[in-house]
Amino acid sequence: MRISVTDTNGTQHDIEAKEGDKAMEAIRDSGLTIAALCGGCCSCATCHVYVSDDWADKLPPRSEDEEALLELVAELRPASRLSCQIIMEPAFDGIELELSSDTNL
Ligand code: FES
Repeated sequence: MRISVTDTNGTQHDIEAKEGDKAMEAIRDSGLTIAALCGGCCSCATCHVYVSDDWADKLPPRSEDEEALLELVAELRPASRLSCQIIMEPAFDGIELELSSDTNL
């Protein structure tokens, strides 16, 4: 599967992901900068991304834990998600994510 990732400089990258990967893991493993300080256990918000309008409604809703953490981010938008909570599946092939400034710690 493919994820389109726009980094904090505005550069777009196509990266690979496997089914069951957290999007955060695929981004990290591709070599792009993503702090992801808690390693994906939904406790840091440094994997915060913005999902494109075309994709935001296709993801499952935020969990309570994700909602609570997103209160802490620098710039919350309606399409804000924690990329460690996006579990890749075939339906998400081609998803478009933009790294937030929170990933740049
Ligand atoms: S990596 Fe820490 S909340 Fe996602």
